[in-house]
Amino acid sequence: MRGRHVISTPRLLFRSPTIIDVLAVLAVASDADAQRWLGWEPESVVPERQRERLLNGRARLRRPLLGWGPVRAPLCLVAIDPQNRAYAGMATIQEVTPDACEVGGSLSPDYRGLGLGAELFTAIYQLAHHHFGYAEVRAGTEPTNTACIRSLQSAGFVRVAGSDTHLLPVGRTVPAAWFSRTDPDTAICPAVRHR
Ligand SMILES: CC(C)(COP(=O)(O)OP(=O)(O)OC[C@H]1O[C@@H](n2cnc3c(N)ncnc32)[C@H](O)[C@@H]1OP(=O)(O)O)[C@@H](O)C(=O)NCCC(=O)NCCS
Repeated sequence: MRGRHVISTPRLLFRSPTIIDVLAVLAVASDADAQRWLGWEPESVVPERQRERLLNGRARLRRPLLGWGPVRAPLCLVAIDPQNRAYAGMATIQEVTPDACEVGGSLSPDYRGLGLGAELFTAIYQLAHHHFGYAEVRAGTEPTNTACIRSLQSAGFVRVAGSDTHLLPVGRTVPAAWFSRTDPDTAICPAVRHR
């Protein structure tokens, strides 16, 4: 059902955010290190003094009764550390064509540098491919974002051709490298067939 997705990896649980999670989802990627790559509009970036409080909050593990999100916005997932219910990251899936989507994401500062990026991109690929039925899952990043590129490669993504540049939401144009994982053998969950 729309907005009630759940997928687990060895160390993380990904689920649709509820309205209670929304600010924490923004907080996980609002620090300068993440925004250097993500370049969100200023109104989406949580100020530092609120980030700590939000990231110290504890998320509920169970599947939400009602997901949050405007109908046509990219689908968003919150990553939770099931050991302590901390907000560990977020990921997005945006449809490009009926057969292809673009994915992205970020880990909370405390969860970077632990190899969890590969789990994030594996989870988001599996959901996009086996649940939403996208044959191709693409991701773009800056060629110098080594941690992101290595994480994508660990999750089975390979370098593909694409635009040399990318316009970030904040209006900054950055160099871009594109990665893709393709498998024609897709599956669509009956509950999302009419997404
Ligand atoms: C991108 C991101 C998801 C990567 O996840 P991560 O788990 O922190 O990645 P890691 O730091 O474990 O690095 C992954 C790999 O890259 C390597 N790596 C990281 N930085 C490196 C560097 N500067 N030079 C060489 N190798 C590097 C790591 O050693 C690791 O190697 P391994 O696969 O052999 O273990 C995470 O860092 C993040 O959320 N960053 C902020 C937001 C962001 O950049 N999002 C992506 C935007 S497109």
